[in-house]
Amino acid sequence: MKVLMVCLGNICRSPLAEGILRHQAAANGLDWEVDSAGTGSWHVGQPPDPRSVATARKRGVDISHQRARQIGSADFYRFDHILVMDSSNRTHVLNMVPEISLRSKVSMIMDASHPGRSIEVPDPYWDDNGFDSVFDMLETACSAFVAKYAI
Ligand code: 4NP
Repeated sequence: MKVLMVCLGNICRSPLAEGILRHQAAANGLDWEVDSAGTGSWHVGQPPDPRSVATARKRGVDISHQRARQIGSADFYRFDHILVMDSSNRTHVLNMVPEISLRSKVSMIMDASHPGRSIEVPDPYWDDNGFDSVFDMLETACSAFVAKYAI
């Protein structure tokens, strides 16, 4: 299974989602490829936001080695699932889909645990207190995703 996590900057939410899913997959003995990318290019090459790194570290997940990159057309072929954090990410990503048949790879990450509710993972960039609740949400979604696709 190959999973790409996508947010706007690829420094706050999707690095956490990548780290959490990779951690959970390994803990379940799954040989999954997990990566993340942003729809924007502002932070390309940068490590995750220090607040994301600290929040993850506190919860036993190391994301400090990650570097931001921007999503590209090849990602739609390379990954089985592209999980976005909010509806704005989804609009951006769907606008880039190179072939109509690949649209079904794209979904909101919270749909994994709360299908049909359109729950968005809020952008914590402007909110110092948002990182713990974002981690909790992503942990819930990733657990459900692992339970659904682990074989
Ligand atoms: P992310 O958060 O999409 O969760 O990585 C953001 C990071 C940076 C910016 C916006 C959102 N920014 O505008 O620079």
